[in-house]
Amino acid sequence: MGLFSLFTKEIAIDLGTANTVILYNDKVVVDEPSIIAIQRDTNEVLAVGKHALMMHGKTHENVKTIRPLRDGVIADFKSTELMLREFIKMAGTRGYFFPPALKMVICIPSCITEVEERAVRDSAEQSGAKEVRLIHEPMAAAIGSGIDVLDANGNMIIDIGGGTTEIAVISLGGIVTSKSIKTGGDEFNEEIIECIRKTHGINVGEAMAEKIKIAVGAAIEDIDSPPEDFEAVGHDQLQGIPRPVMVNYCEIAQALDKSIYKIESAVIRTLEETLPELSADIYRNGIYMAGGGSLIRGLDKRIAKRTQLNVHVVNDPLKAVARGTGIALKNFDKFPFLIK
Ligand SMILES: Nc1ncnc2c1ncn2[C@@H]1O[C@H](COP(=O)(O)OP(=O)(O)OP(=O)(O)O)[C@@H](O)[C@H]1O
Ligand SMILES: [Mg+2]
Repeated sequence: MGLFSLFTKEIAIDLGTANTVILYNDKVVVDEPSIIAIQRDTNEVLAVGKHALMMHGKTHENVKTIRPLRDGVIADFKSTELMLREFIKMAGTRGYFFPPALKMVICIPSCITEVEERAVRDSAEQSGAKEVRLIHEPMAAAIGSGIDVLDANGNMIIDIGGGTTEIAVISLGGIVTSKSIKTGGDEFNEEIIECIRKTHGINVGEAMAEKIKIAVGAAIEDIDSPPEDFEAVGHDQLQGIPRPVMVNYCEIAQALDKSIYKIESAVIRTLEETLPELSADIYRNGIYMAGGGSLIRGLDKRIAKRTQLNVHVVNDPLKAVARGTGIALKNFDKFPFLIK
């Protein structure tokens, strides 16, 4: 039994491709990027979360940084387990002293395989959990967005995370129709890297692409309060020296067009497959959008235009899934869709 079994009582975990969030007593006790740094020769964990992210792209040959959940699936079991354990330990050491016991609800991507599900459950159990329930991400996102998922009322939720975009229609406590595509914040970053390379002849790293996306990320050129140009620094392809360039949001809107088109098409396909009564509900309720990717400027407007529906970006979209997982924890034996 791990040391942290002394600390935990009931916790909710959103194990995301980009970020892991842990809630205890409705409070966020861990909010860290899903990344781990390992010493190659000894396999020792050097850092997790923000500390490991600072090392990303700056390591020497004896240190490797791993994002174990790349693309919305568990790409690396061992490091997922190590990372999850460290995060749970962190939750216990940040001034929260919990009695033993241990219920956990963990949110997982809906496209995860049974083997991967098992791996998540095993990691949780090895971290001291006695009872574990899993919840699929779109369901958690819907609950965290304030939707009454048990009601006989169809709602569409789009969760744009780091690795995947999940689109689901939920009614009566179940996912009626859903789609998951491997387009999300990571792909947006790749498109940005490609665009800066092509238009400015500069190579930028993943961390710089992330900064560009947050500063001037946009889905359309016609946005209400355009951000100022952003100075990005990279590596000049011809001269081989570091060089700054000014990046405008319109360039980024063009760079992201292809990825955003994929999201729009998946939304349209999901709407096409939705039964008429549920379609009528969605027409009335509009579409809810959560996950960090929903913060791209003008994305709501673009999807609203394409679908002719109202699109609501939920309050604090980066935490919606964690909030929903927290609510599921309180309904541990009541919510029928929790996976035992
Ligand atoms: N202001 C912002 N503008 C655009 N993108 C953002 C912003 N803030 C965060 N993001 C992006 O949101 C993504 C992370 O969102 P989130 O935490 O919902 O994903 P996740 O749950 O870890 O991933 P997944 O659900 O795919 O497993 C990252 O790709 C990040 O770059
Ligand atoms: Mg997520």
